[in-house]
Amino acid sequence: MLVDFKNEPFTNFSLPENKQAFQTALAKVESELGREYDLIIGGERIKTESKIHSINPSNHSQVIGIVSQADQELAERAIQTATQAFESWKKVPGSARARYLYKAAAILRRRKHEFSAWLVKEAGKSWAEADADTAEAIDFMEYYGRQMEKLAERHALPRIPGEDNELYYIPLGVGIVIPPWNFPLAIMVGMTTAALVAGNTVVLKPASTTPVIAAKFMEVLEDAGVPAGVVNFVPGSGSVIGDFLVEHPLTRFISFTGSRDVGLRINELAAKHRPGQKWIKRLVAEMGGKDSIIVDNDCDLELAAQAIVTSAFGFSGQKCSACSRAIVHQDVYDQVLARVTELTQNLKIGDVANPDSYTGPVIDDKAYNKILEYIEIGKQEGKLVAGGEKGPEGGYYIQPTVFADVDPQARLMQEEIFGPVVAFCKARDFDHALEIANNTEYGLTGSVISRNRAHLEKAREEFHVGNLYFNRKCTGALVGVHPFGGFNMSGTDSKAGGPDYLLLFTQAKSVSELL
Ligand code: NAD
Ligand code: ALA
Repeated sequence: MLVDFKNEPFTNFSLPENKQAFQTALAKVESELGREYDLIIGGERIKTESKIHSINPSNHSQVIGIVSQADQELAERAIQTATQAFESWKKVPGSARARYLYKAAAILRRRKHEFSAWLVKEAGKSWAEADADTAEAIDFMEYYGRQMEKLAERHALPRIPGEDNELYYIPLGVGIVIPPWNFPLAIMVGMTTAALVAGNTVVLKPASTTPVIAAKFMEVLEDAGVPAGVVNFVPGSGSVIGDFLVEHPLTRFISFTGSRDVGLRINELAAKHRPGQKWIKRLVAEMGGKDSIIVDNDCDLELAAQAIVTSAFGFSGQKCSACSRAIVHQDVYDQVLARVTELTQNLKIGDVANPDSYTGPVIDDKAYNKILEYIEIGKQEGKLVAGGEKGPEGGYYIQPTVFADVDPQARLMQEEIFGPVVAFCKARDFDHALEIANNTEYGLTGSVISRNRAHLEKAREEFHVGNLYFNRKCTGALVGVHPFGGFNMSGTDSKAGGPDYLLLFTQAKSVSELL
C-alpha cells in the first residue's frame, strides 16, 4: 500500500558526508557544462539553428548549456503531436498515470544533489535554496499522484429511486505550460506533472534563462517511461512562440506562472475565440507579489528581524513570496530597523557554488539593471541604511539593500522589484499597518509578527493575501501544508500543492443511468 504523503526532508549540509556528496554533484555538473540540448516533440529530439545560451549568473563567462529554440512551425508540430497523444493518454487510468509520477519522484530523489547542483549553476541558488527547490519538485509529484488517485475514484451522487448517478473528473486536452525561472525545477515540475497526471498532454515552454534544468527533467520523465508526446519540450522566446501557443485553436488550457504583465497579456489573448476553436480556454495564472511583513509593538523583535531578513534576501529576493515591505509599529521601528541593518550587513555575498555564500547573483543583466534602477529610485524615496551598491564583478551581484522611512505609496512600496531590496515603512498602530499592507494591487503572501491575539485574529480576517503567516517568514510554502496562490493581481489563486489544484486541469462529467 502507498505510504501517506510526507514532505521530502531538507539536507543538513553541516554533516560532512552531505557536504561531500553535494561537492561531488557539483563536480559532475561542472564536467557536463556547455552541452547541447534539443527540442523533444513526440519523443523525437530536434536540433535547430537558433539557440539559447544559458549562462551561470554567478560567473557570466560560464556557459551552462546550449539549447535549441523552436520556431512557430515546430510549435505547431508540438501542438499537433500533443493533440494526437491526448487520444491515448486520456484513456490511461488515473491510478496508472499517478504511478509515472511516483517513478519520476523516485528517480529525482536518487539524483537529488545533481539536480540541486544544476540549480546552483544555472539559477544562482545557494545550496540550501537549491536543495529546497529539488525537494519541492519531488513533493509535487508525490502529492499530485496521490491527489489523482483520489480524484480517479468514481464519486457516487445521491441516489434517487430507479437511478444510478456518478461524477467523473475527465481531462481537458492539450495544455501549454509556461513556468518562471525562479523555481526552475519545482514550479516547472509541479505545473507539468499536475497537468499530465490529470490526463492532459503538455507543450512545455521553459523559461529562457533556465532551460537546461527543464531539459534534465525531460530525461527523468523519459526514464520514468512517460509515453512520447505526452510532454513535448519546446524552448523558445516568448515573443516568437509565446503568443502562437496561447492563441492556437487546439490549445485547451494555459498554465502560466510569471510576471503580472505577461500573465495579463496571456489572459487577453486566451480569451479571444479563434476559428476552429471548440472551447473557452482555461487559464491558470500565478503572477507577481509585493509582500509585507507587519511588525507589531508587542512581539519578539529578534524573530521579526530574522523573518524580514530571511524573507527579503533568501535567493536575493527573487521569490514571488519575498518580503519587500517591512511595515513596523512606530514603538519598535528603530530597534527592528537597526537589527535588520546589522543582519543584512553580515550576509556573505558571492558565488553560490561556495557553501558559505548566502547572497548569490540575480538572474541576468536585465534583472541586474532593473534592480539597480530601483535602488536609485529608493535613494530618492527613502533613506539608504544598508547595501545600495553592486556586488563583486564577474556575476550579477547586488548587495542586499535596506531603505528606511519610505512612504506607503512610493514606487518602492508598490512595484515588484524582484531583487534584494526591502523598504521600511512606519505605522502609527496595528490598524494603520494593516491598511498599508493591503494598499497594493497584489495579494500573494504576508506575515504578522505579534503576540497580540486580537491583532492576529484581525489580520486573519482583513490581511488580504492568499498565503498569510503568523510569527514566521513569508517564504517557503510547503507542498500539501501551505497550498500556494495569490489574490488580485497576484493571479488566479490556484493553490498549487493544495487539495483542489488538480481540479483546474479537469472537467467534471455527471452520468445518470436509469435502472
Ligand atoms: P516572466 O513573466 O518574464 O516569464 C514567465 C514565463 O513566461 C517565462 O517562461 C517566459 O519565457 C514566458 N513568456 C514571456 N513572454 C511571453 C509571452 N508573450 N507569451 C508566452 N510566454 C511568455 O516572469 P519571470 O521573470 O520568469 O518570473 C518572475 C515573475 O514570476 C515574478 O513576477 C514573480 O513574482 C512571478 N512568480 C510568481 C509565482 C506565483 O506562484 N505567484 C511563482 C514564481 C514566480
Ligand atoms: N512557493 C514559494 C514560497 O513559498 C514561492 O516561497
